[in-house]
Amino acid sequence: MSRSARLVPAVAALLALALTATACDGGVRGTPGGSGVRDPYFPKAGNGGYDVTHYALTLDYTPATRHLTAKAVITARATQDLSAFDLDLAGLHVEKVTVEGRQARWNRAGQELTVRPHDDLGKGETFSTTVRYSGTPRTLTDPDGSEEGWLRTADGALGLGEPVGSMAWFPGSNHPSDKATYDITVTVPKGLQAVSNGELTEQTDKGGRTAYHWHTGQPMASYVATVAIGHYDITRTTGPHGLPVITAVDPTRAKASAKALAKIPEIIDWEETNFGPYPFSSTGAIVDRPGDAGYALETQNRPVFPADQFDTSTLVHELAHQWYGDSVTPRSWRDMWLNEGFATYAEWLYEEDFGDKSAQETFTELYEDDDEAVWAFPPAKPSSAAHISDSPVYQRGAMVLQKIRQKVGDDTFYEIIQGWAAAHRHSTASTADFTAYVEKKAPDKDFSGIWKDWLYGDGRPDHP
Ligand code: TRP
Ligand code: ZN
Repeated sequence: MSRSARLVPAVAALLALALTATACDGGVRGTPGGSGVRDPYFPKAGNGGYDVTHYALTLDYTPATRHLTAKAVITARATQDLSAFDLDLAGLHVEKVTVEGRQARWNRAGQELTVRPHDDLGKGETFSTTVRYSGTPRTLTDPDGSEEGWLRTADGALGLGEPVGSMAWFPGSNHPSDKATYDITVTVPKGLQAVSNGELTEQTDKGGRTAYHWHTGQPMASYVATVAIGHYDITRTTGPHGLPVITAVDPTRAKASAKALAKIPEIIDWEETNFGPYPFSSTGAIVDRPGDAGYALETQNRPVFPADQFDTSTLVHELAHQWYGDSVTPRSWRDMWLNEGFATYAEWLYEEDFGDKSAQETFTELYEDDDEAVWAFPPAKPSSAAHISDSPVYQRGAMVLQKIRQKVGDDTFYEIIQGWAAAHRHSTASTADFTAYVEKKAPDKDFSGIWKDWLYGDGRPDHP
């Protein structure tokens, strides 16, 4: 029996305060972990004091009532002695939190769910937190005006998370720097399907409902986690070297999508030639109706496409993100060009190989075009959170890669882009890591002008 259980509540509360202010029984004396990881664009995203290693999410959702009943079991390692730590969660009703099996206290302020475990956690300790929660998940509006989080669709729902929307459907450390493996089990009314990242390991019917268990064995950033609930035509085929290709298509779009879907294996094959081994244990696509999301997103293993944007270049782009973004993940949202510049460059390369324009021609056209938007800010320094998905990040990001190619030639260039994907595979990396990597690969070349003018400099550089 705990000591405080015999005391009246007010005294117990005082004692609890005293216990956290001085050393606890176990000897560990921690401090709070902090509400964010100081991302320059999303300061409250992620949390300090621990690293998540695994999420086990059990979601039960009914589209007709839009009600979610859920449990998240979060396994994490403390990176400091902790008296309290935060999880990111937007909306929803928290019913119960336990840490290491013991009831924890918690409170909420904005997107921060602050958990105070019964016992302080020691630095290096692996601990398990269980959050039971429910309600109608929210659709969030990003600084750039797009919608993410939990989106309602004609026959179900779509969970999307770039940049911060995953906190609308599960609590966690919602920042790309904290990747983890996932088990996502989604239970829906029988007749509906639930598709997620990774591979389907189990499907069970119980009492008029079906549970789909998806396992993601390679580290995943929360912003590329997804669930898609509704009616889908699901197809399983294999791609290069037996890679499972799992696709889910809204039945009303099946016919129109068939041609693009069939291209997935050959695009993966072409990307492996250019970028190196595919980083995950399965691939595929989720194709929804045009209005459901309104944009494509590189959700891990299985990008989401609105049917009207399901074309070859978007497919090349989202699949390229599996290497650049999903496997090599930006350390902060400032490093976003490492995603979008590379994925855009993949489109240029595809056009060079199969279309009628070289990447250099695409570069020159952009340079000579009068479109001022491309020069609005440097790719490695977006002007604000509202602009992280603007054309300087995409087009000018790709132009940085073309500048590197100009300087080093094709052989070294391919060594660089493949080596970069290999060096930071399943991890995170920053712009500074990238420039250092390029310099290491071509020690006889001077890149300082490219970094200064193309990566960090304002306005259109004087020379193409
Ligand atoms: N990452 C997506 C792509 O280019 C685009 C995107 C969707 C996005 N939602 C976003 C970019 C939110 C930044 C922020 O494939
Ligand atoms: Zn992209």
